[in-house]
Amino acid sequence: MILTTGGAGFIGSNFVLDWLAGAGEPVLNLDRLTYAGNLENLASLRGDARHVFVQGDIGDAALVARLLAEHRPRAVVNFAAESHVDRSIHDPEDFIQTNIVGTFRLLEAVRAYWSGLPAPERAAFRFLHVSTDEVYGSLGKEDPAFSESNRYEPNSPYSASKAASDHLVRAWHHTYGLPVLTTNCSNNYGPYHFPEKLIPLCIHNALAGKPLPIYGDGQQRRDWLYVGDHCAAIRRVLEAGRPGEVYNVGGWNEMANLEVVTTLCAMLDAMRPRADGRSYREQIGFVADRPGHDRRYAIDAGKLERELGWKPQETFESGIRKTVRWYLDHQDWVNNVTSGAYRDWVGKHYGD
Ligand code: NAD
Ligand code: DAU
Repeated sequence: MILTTGGAGFIGSNFVLDWLAGAGEPVLNLDRLTYAGNLENLASLRGDARHVFVQGDIGDAALVARLLAEHRPRAVVNFAAESHVDRSIHDPEDFIQTNIVGTFRLLEAVRAYWSGLPAPERAAFRFLHVSTDEVYGSLGKEDPAFSESNRYEPNSPYSASKAASDHLVRAWHHTYGLPVLTTNCSNNYGPYHFPEKLIPLCIHNALAGKPLPIYGDGQQRRDWLYVGDHCAAIRRVLEAGRPGEVYNVGGWNEMANLEVVTTLCAMLDAMRPRADGRSYREQIGFVADRPGHDRRYAIDAGKLERELGWKPQETFESGIRKTVRWYLDHQDWVNNVTSGAYRDWVGKHYGD
């Protein structure tokens, strides 16, 4: 089996669902179930013996050691993290704890387990660390897209904590020989995306008749990748990536935030027109910028394509259509995750 951490979050749950729909190899899923973790994402696996869920912290060394000894996974895929930049600005402590200390403890537990494996299993073992393009910092207008050799220049507490975790993963390979793989990915979107992030937040607010908040001038640029494409990339890297290597993952889809939101509005206008016949675009509003907001990210995913033959299947147009369809069909999921603590966050961050 494989061990996933953070497999009840957005990308992790998509990965577990895709994995079990395809390969069929059992998954041990360790997740602390923070506000971002949701077992409802995995409801379709209820009663499926191939999915073993354990609620717990990657920083709990004794728990992780026990799980590794009991289940003897052949690989670990580490999704677990605090992932929201704005929350990291309000309150960085959890990011240090999970993304840095948690990754360190996980690496140590995995190293002890891996060291004791018989030689063939030791050689085949992999630790795949899921990271972000934000570790490379912000690009100028004319700069080439991020490649794997770009310097690390993280600018937010979130990206600094992810950068630190990447360095630990790298060091555990160079010093101890742990067979690690690191993927640095651009902005994902798709089903089960928590509505604190731009795309699901705007779908949710649009349908609720609320403002669509654009930070600053809305000309910050991101590369967008459909989550199913990301999951396929991780499967491919796990299968054939070279230990110690880093692979950038992106959608070849760089867009300004304002363009993302207007495209989304056009999709909603077509798929769920407003009762008054006007466009959702009218709900767009500009709000104060994010402190230290990175202006531009762009990913060169050429290495992954050249070496491992992966490239994204979805265009932004096809991916966003699927995403909007999913949200329209899963309003119960949205209603459940936007009750309680979610409202406190929205009030704290956006005020009135
Ligand atoms: P998410 O916030 O939706 O989910 C994170 C999951 O980790 C949750 O289920 C949460 O309960 C769990 N978790 C948090 N702390 C934990 C801990 N200490 N122990 C065990 N579980 C814990 O995040 P996501 O968007 O699914 O991102 C997954 C990974 O991918 C993260 O490492 C993130 O940095 C990285 N990433 C995300 C994106 C993106 O666009 N979402 C892009 C690139 C990289
Ligand atoms: O680049 C990969 C990263 O993408 C991941 O590592 C992070 O985990 C993930 O959260 C995401 O980070 P971003 O900060 O880019 O995503 P977010 O959806 O929060 O914001 C996308 C852009 O939209 C960003 O430029 C900020 C802007 N934005 C966001 C929100 C929530 C707005 O303009 N208004 C908003 O209300």
